[in-house]
Amino acid sequence: MMSLLLLLTYLTLVSCSSRSSWCETGCDCRGELRFSICSRAGFTQLPERIPSITELLDLSDNNLTFILPQSFSNNRKLRVLLLQNNNISVVHDGAFSYMEFLQKLDLSWNSISVLTEGFTVGLSLLRELQLAHNQLLILDRRCFLHLDALQRLNLSANSIRSVQVRSFASMSSLRQLHLQDNQLTALHSGIFSMLRSLEVLDLAGNHISQTETGVFKPLTSMTLLNLAGNQLSRIDFKSFLSIHTYSTHILLEGNPWHCDCDLQRVFRKLRSIHRLFLDDYHNLSCRTPPVLRHYRLMDVDAELCVAETVTVLIITITVLITVLAAMVMGERKRKKKKKGLHWTKMFILKCIIMH
Ligand SMILES: *[C@@H]1O[C@H](CO)[C@@H](O)[C@H](O)[C@H]1NC(C)=O
Ligand SMILES: *[C@@H]1O[C@H](CO)[C@@H](O)[C@H](O)[C@H]1NC(C)=O
Ligand SMILES: *[C@@H]1O[C@H](CO)[C@@H](O)[C@H](O)[C@H]1NC(C)=O
Ligand SMILES: *[C@@H]1O[C@H](CO)[C@@H](O)[C@H](O)[C@H]1NC(C)=O
Repeated sequence: MMSLLLLLTYLTLVSCSSRSSWCETGCDCRGELRFSICSRAGFTQLPERIPSITELLDLSDNNLTFILPQSFSNNRKLRVLLLQNNNISVVHDGAFSYMEFLQKLDLSWNSISVLTEGFTVGLSLLRELQLAHNQLLILDRRCFLHLDALQRLNLSANSIRSVQVRSFASMSSLRQLHLQDNQLTALHSGIFSMLRSLEVLDLAGNHISQTETGVFKPLTSMTLLNLAGNQLSRIDFKSFLSIHTYSTHILLEGNPWHCDCDLQRVFRKLRSIHRLFLDDYHNLSCRTPPVLRHYRLMDVDAELCVAETVTVLIITITVLITVLAAMVMGERKRKKKKKGLHWTKMFILKCIIMH
């Protein structure tokens, strides 16, 4: 991308922006027509006269509302397509078919709420897909079917509340998955299956309170797991233990931790695993119990299990006393019963003799 921008600047300087009559009004076609800049041109529909040799088409900040099938069939050389900041709510099946050279597609800041199965048809070389700030609610296995080469997927700031099993299964090249600022509440086992190249998994700013054991297991290349700003109050040790990577940094700040001996123990165990780095451990703070609210976990962790030990001691003593008391009572009763039996026997004997 960097090199592309440099190229753009270079070519702009060299060929001095050839505003061509071949170019749509409102667009600025440069670099011998290889760059069509149509940003902020007030388009409500896709312009029709984009030169077919265009490699970069910038349609950001317009008023497009939908993308019809095969909209870019005359622009098969496109490598970068920028559609951010429009008002696109519908992307029809096959909208991007025949774009076999496209490497970057930016659809962020639009109003897309559904991705259909045909959305990714023809995008088999796409490396970067930007979909942040849309209105996506649910991801399933049909959303990203044909993105075999994708390396970066940005889904931040949508309203995603559910990710179904194998939603990202076609993307074995994916390196970065940005899901921050969505509405996820739980991470179910299987939703990240097949993401064996994934290095960055950003889940910050969701409402995640549970992580199912094994959910991170397929992520064998993960170097950064960001879970900051979620609703975790406890931690499922096994789901973190199953991270089998060379080294992974984990961020957990901004969660409502329930600071008790259990939590302290789990964190102690996690911190002793050499491949895991809890970078912001020193910044974790307690939400509950109320007496510990706002305390940093680090400052109270030495006492959490002391209190627990005292409690255990008190309970043990109480139980012991109860048991002892019960035994004493039992013994007394037994003695009484024996006495009672003795009298009964005497009575019966007396009766027999009297007869
Ligand atoms: C898009 O349309 C809205 C009203 O429909 C208008 O206020 C806005 O200026 C338009 N934006 C652009 C970039 O043309
Ligand atoms: C976006 O599109 C919807 C209809 O799809 C329209 O009601 C709304 O005014 C548009 N917004 C802007 C800013 O153009
Ligand atoms: C994701 O999208 C947001 C909003 O457009 C942007 O600010 C952020 O830089 C993007 N992140 C990545 C890694 O592309
Ligand atoms: C901890 O919090 C402080 C203040 O908010 C911040 O400056 C620092 O970067 C945080 N440390 C880590 C490791 O996140």
